[in-house]
Amino acid sequence: MIDVVVWWSAPLAVEERFLGLLDETEQGRYDAYRQELDKRRFLTGRVLAKSLAAERLGTTAAEIKFDSACDDCGKPHGRPRVPGADLMLSISHSGELIGVAATDGTPVGLDVETVKRRADASLIEYALSPAERDALKGLTDDERATAFFTYWTRKEAVMKATGKGLKIPLQSITFSPYNELAVLVESGDPVLDPASTRLTDLKAADGYRAAVAVLSTDTLSAIELPWSP
Ligand SMILES: CC(C)(COP(=O)(O)OP(=O)(O)OC[C@H]1O[C@@H](n2cnc3c(N)ncnc32)[C@H](O)[C@@H]1OP(=O)(O)O)[C@@H](O)C(=O)NCCC(=O)NCCS
Repeated sequence: MIDVVVWWSAPLAVEERFLGLLDETEQGRYDAYRQELDKRRFLTGRVLAKSLAAERLGTTAAEIKFDSACDDCGKPHGRPRVPGADLMLSISHSGELIGVAATDGTPVGLDVETVKRRADASLIEYALSPAERDALKGLTDDERATAFFTYWTRKEAVMKATGKGLKIPLQSITFSPYNELAVLVESGDPVLDPASTRLTDLKAADGYRAAVAVLSTDTLSAIELPWSP
């Protein structure tokens, strides 16, 4: 059994006790965001991830230093890792919700999306496989948005677990129907094998869809907890 812990938070206020947890590189990324809410979402993701890492490793958030080198280009915008620790983390932010998932070293991917965005035809065409598109037929606008973002977050979650992000064509993978237990049914990319990919939809919060995935043949058990400093 793979245990996954997910912590959720609203965007934190910009306070010195949080900013002080950012290292120089993270401070640079924080400064580069123009919008206030983008800054706060980034800050919250880092504070949440450091707090969760600290709890699991028996230390304080201030002691946690991340290596966030991107697997592709080396720039510090990749998923955070604690060098040498049996710990994998995944951060996701959307709207007013920020989440972090952690495992004891099994590759993990978390994704959350607000369902306030419309799921228009071009987005559906871009992201869903033919079987998934069929499942959306006959739904109202609201139902379609919820169903679409259920598929979307499942897709991002499994892709983030591989570390490849959205480089795998979204249409090349098919999930079980949006209103059934989340299973990766088919994958056209060798990096994602249905036999060793486990995922589950999450509750997250009203107005959001979210999913978490691990690359493992074991079953997955996920616990979601609200976090506040
Ligand atoms: C990873 C990716 C799916 C994020 O999607 P998103 O919905 O915009 O954003 P989310 O809020 O869900 O996730 C962002 C978090 O994913 C993590 N992340 C970044 N790259 C990642 C990757 N390749 N795999 C897994 N997680 C990644 C980071 O922790 C990031 O948060 P942070 O920058 O605040 O630490 C998207 O950025 C992507 O596809 N990246 C592919 C790699 C890429 O294009 N790199 C840029 C050029 S080298």
